[in-house]
Amino acid sequence: MNENAKKVMLSGIQPSGDLHLGNYLGAIRNWVARTDEFDNYYFMADMHTITVRQTPADLRRRTLEQLAQYIACGLDPEKNTLFIQSHVPEHAQLGWVLNCYTMFGELSRMTQFKDKSSKHSENINGGLFTYPALMAADILLYQPDYVPVGEDQKQHCELTRDVAIRFNNIYGDVFKVPEPFIQKVGARIMSLGNPSSKMSKSDPAGCVFLLEKPEDILRKFKKAVTDSDTENCVRYAPEEKPGVANLMGIYAAITGKSYAEIETEFAGKGYGVFKPTVGEAVVEMLRPIQEETRRILADKAYLESVYRAGAEKASYIASKTLRKVYKKIGFVAR
Ligand code: TYM
Repeated sequence: MNENAKKVMLSGIQPSGDLHLGNYLGAIRNWVARTDEFDNYYFMADMHTITVRQTPADLRRRTLEQLAQYIACGLDPEKNTLFIQSHVPEHAQLGWVLNCYTMFGELSRMTQFKDKSSKHSENINGGLFTYPALMAADILLYQPDYVPVGEDQKQHCELTRDVAIRFNNIYGDVFKVPEPFIQKVGARIMSLGNPSSKMSKSDPAGCVFLLEKPEDILRKFKKAVTDSDTENCVRYAPEEKPGVANLMGIYAAITGKSYAEIETEFAGKGYGVFKPTVGEAVVEMLRPIQEETRRILADKAYLESVYRAGAEKASYIASKTLRKVYKKIGFVAR
């Protein structure tokens, strides 16, 4: 292998809802920051979304909006391979193979499966259960060094490593064993309405969407839960004051300030000043992203050219890995 080749980064987001602040601060922002350092693959994980019922027109719209937002957030398609998962059939193909190397017990322990099967008890389908094997395929096809994700995806990344190691132990060095890449600040943004659960599209009241109107964003921040005591003091104490700590985390991620600096900035000012200030910082951060997203979405031909070129490049790499896997396991070449 070429020793001067850049290391590879890969990640994806499901277009099952609109992108939110957690996706941005936990994942996308870290991708953008490292564009020049790595060879990058970022995709819309549309195949994963159908483990939960989707309205087809919404899924189509969100997938394209997500691509436009990736670019608007700063992922230059010339420097990042941006593609739609279902355009690269090797994901499904390797996904099946890895299903056969992932244990029932391992899949049963996945917290995302437990969460989603309790929320969608009427539709606990096989795909929901075997989802991590498809995610392992998404990753291992591109032989990445790092998988930049938020904290909640760590368990899936660890399972991917276990599956890769198991496979390599049987067949030799087929897969690179990747590391999850989790930043400290922003790795787990909590709901504004309930700071004990993570910010998620399934709780729209506590969730700030990247394309949301500034006035709605500000309203959500003004209503954000702080703490039940009457201290009214901006102090970083995650156990005692999880709501305040979450808002401080968001503010720190945006401004680059330390918690001590934030405490000093709001000393004697109370939540009435703190909450709208954090809201404003979010609105200002999102303003150029929103404008750029609207501009890109108006140019359908451009979006199409991006996802086509992305799929072509992704397929080239993915097919090489799949060919190797098929050969190793004993499938006859066509
Ligand atoms: P998904 O679509 O739920 O989330 C996408 C990314 O956003 C991060 N994230 C958060 N980070 C901080 N705070 C939050 N509240 C928050 N909510 C979400 C997630 O950690 C993730 O990085 N299974 C994956 C999608 C996927 C994938 C992959 C990721 C499919 N194949 C291959 C990496 C590599 C998922 O459901 O993420």
